[in-house]
Amino acid sequence: MEKTSSTSLARTKSDQLVETLSAAFKSPVSSEATGASDGGGTLSRKSSRRLLMAASPGRSGSSGKNTHIRKSRSAQLKLDLEEVSSGAALSRASSASLGLSFSFTGFTMPPDEIADSKPFSDDDIPEDIEAGTRDHKPKFQTEPTLPIYLKFTDVTYKVIIKGMTTPTVEKDILNGITGSVNPGEVLALMGPSGSGKTTLLNLLGGRLMQATVGGSITYNDQPYSKFLKSKIGFVTQDDVLLPHLTVKETLRYAALLRLPKTLTKEQKEKRAIDVIYELGLERCQDTMIGGSFVRGVSGGERKRVCIGNEIIINPSLLFLDEPTSGLDSTTALKIVKMLQDIAEAGKTVVTTIHQPSSRLFHKFDKLILLGKGSLLYFGKASEAMVYFSSIGCTPLIAMNPAEFLLDLANGNLNEVSVPSELQDRVQMENTENDTTNGKPTPAVVHEYLVEAYETRVVEKMKKKLMAPIPLDEEIKSKVSTPKRQWGAGWCEQYSILFRRGLKERRHDYFSWLRITQVLSTAVILGLLWWQSDSKSPKGLQDQAGLLFFIAVFWSFFPIFTAIFTFPQERAMLSKERAADMYRLSAYFLARTTSDLPLDLFLPVLFLLVVYFMAGLRMSAYAFFLSMLTIFLSIVAAQGLGLAIGATLMDLKKATTLASVTIMTFMLAGGYFVKKVPVFISWIRFMSFNYHTYKLLLKIQYEDISPTVNGMKTDCGLIEVGALVAMVFGYRFLAYLSLRRMKLYSGA
Ligand SMILES: Nc1ncnc2c1ncn2[C@@H]1O[C@H](COP(=O)(O)OP(=O)(O)OP(=O)(O)O)[C@@H](O)[C@H]1O
Ligand SMILES: [Mg+2]
Repeated sequence: MEKTSSTSLARTKSDQLVETLSAAFKSPVSSEATGASDGGGTLSRKSSRRLLMAASPGRSGSSGKNTHIRKSRSAQLKLDLEEVSSGAALSRASSASLGLSFSFTGFTMPPDEIADSKPFSDDDIPEDIEAGTRDHKPKFQTEPTLPIYLKFTDVTYKVIIKGMTTPTVEKDILNGITGSVNPGEVLALMGPSGSGKTTLLNLLGGRLMQATVGGSITYNDQPYSKFLKSKIGFVTQDDVLLPHLTVKETLRYAALLRLPKTLTKEQKEKRAIDVIYELGLERCQDTMIGGSFVRGVSGGERKRVCIGNEIIINPSLLFLDEPTSGLDSTTALKIVKMLQDIAEAGKTVVTTIHQPSSRLFHKFDKLILLGKGSLLYFGKASEAMVYFSSIGCTPLIAMNPAEFLLDLANGNLNEVSVPSELQDRVQMENTENDTTNGKPTPAVVHEYLVEAYETRVVEKMKKKLMAPIPLDEEIKSKVSTPKRQWGAGWCEQYSILFRRGLKERRHDYFSWLRITQVLSTAVILGLLWWQSDSKSPKGLQDQAGLLFFIAVFWSFFPIFTAIFTFPQERAMLSKERAADMYRLSAYFLARTTSDLPLDLFLPVLFLLVVYFMAGLRMSAYAFFLSMLTIFLSIVAAQGLGLAIGATLMDLKKATTLASVTIMTFMLAGGYFVKKVPVFISWIRFMSFNYHTYKLLLKIQYEDISPTVNGMKTDCGLIEVGALVAMVFGYRFLAYLSLRRMKLYSGA
């Protein structure tokens, strides 16, 4: 009886879709899908209506029905292999293969010609019963989801570890992992820490392309292509978000950058708002994300923002690395329910998970259990216990299945029956190393489990995976299109990133600390050189000292601000570039120009104070030219700072290199030493201090003296040319360094 109810419910969704679809229009795809979910028996239709009645907003009402459905859903996950495989998951998959599904973020339309046909009315949208009522949540139409079937066979991954003292060794991280996941399903990767979950997830998400990767990974039977970048959502283990943006701003910018060009700005913004409501973030939408130094939203909310950042693009494939770690079990359950909803919208979801509660465990459709990089189980989550009892491992006390599986993966057989085969083997070999307190050691258990899976299941599984996927050739080949898809044009990307940069660093702009630092230096200089006299040679020499200090100050300051730029944004940049959110050139230009307003505001303040206090040459021409020279010096020095930061991507190394460089440039600047040996004298041409100092001397004294303090005050064209070359040259170097930056820091 329980069996019947489980299968009936399993089919309800698919049948309901098919029914409504056939009523709405006749399509060859729909009949195919009917075939796929056929065999569900007549009962399924009846129950499909029942579910529809119970689930539709405003029509529910009877809590009895809800309980019934909740029960049958968990029953569905518990029971029989063959029945279920043609049931829940397949029904979701087939509805997804139709490309027509109900999105947790609203209603998703099928691709191509189906998309043009009449969709369901809002009344037909079933609610997720277990997730509670969602009446207040908005429903909106998204573009069609391209169904993607993910298959992977014999995936292996090795790393080569080069030791300083030890010889180079190869380490196997993954050994022959085989599995698949279809649209409409949630695949969970479980295993002890270090078992290779993140590595496998990165491989499947196309984020680890190295020569040491073996086996095949296909998306709709096609290999990975750049097109997939815009179809894959990847939520990493660490939350990478801009700390000073609010939740709403974060999602809004993500929507503007990532959603396709076909949507208008208003539609994109609306999508961001809808996602906020769908994720239940409305209460904290105006709160800053926060980070290590700024208090912001809570951990769970931050995780949801990360998920929102990815689901906003309506991805076909969603990967999540430990979305529930560090959250309480209720919040974790909420997140997993959300994943289930997302999957039901025809998306393929793969997630790693550490310690699921038993309620949570039952939410997964498929499960991969890893142990030391080897596959211990792949199949329906609901059948994992059946499989392990078939190889002689059953819990001796009532236990959370997830805990039981993790114990096994760790090779821990406490409170678990020891398989007789393993017992015999250990006794036959009778070696001390194989047992502790009469129980087989973890290594022996691991070996047994790997072997058991390999001999009993792997071949069958591989054969199953050979079967072609139920999709049109046209949809299949879409995946292999090599073309990248940008959400916005270059100029739009630039302007969005520019505005985002301004918002993110708005607190920096009005940092009183920086203003005080510059102003106090200016006042001290002004007092020390108070109304200095340029008429006498001694006074001239004094003033030259002031000009040299100005040249050094306005290169030192910008370099040390600029070296932080890219190393600090590295994680964000990698993440966003991996998702093809924008072109690097747009980001680079936006990032370097959004800092300019402040960088040019402070020197104006500085010069206004120093110039008049020190009584430098009193003419508007001289004042403005001095200003321009300082601007040029700042922008050139910034270029060097950016280049050092982008090349080293390490703050410690970058500050060390910057201080050595700046010291060299300062010493070669022409103030301290005039008679430099020929073999090293070229170095001054590389120093922006030298050029700035020379230009400032020229502006102040061109009419007074042809040489000041040993420096000629002749035509300044070469100096200007050199500074301009530095402005662009260093920036170009920084850009190239970012280009070749590895996007993924490995598994
Ligand atoms: N580039 C690498 N160099 C050396 N070892 C690596 C590299 N990448 C992964 N590993 C090793 O591979 C194993 C699997 O790492 P992975 O991060 O996939 O584990 P995990 O299952 O995600 O663990 P956790 O649950 O703690 O996140 C670890 O032992 C790790 O040290
Ligand atoms: Mg991990």
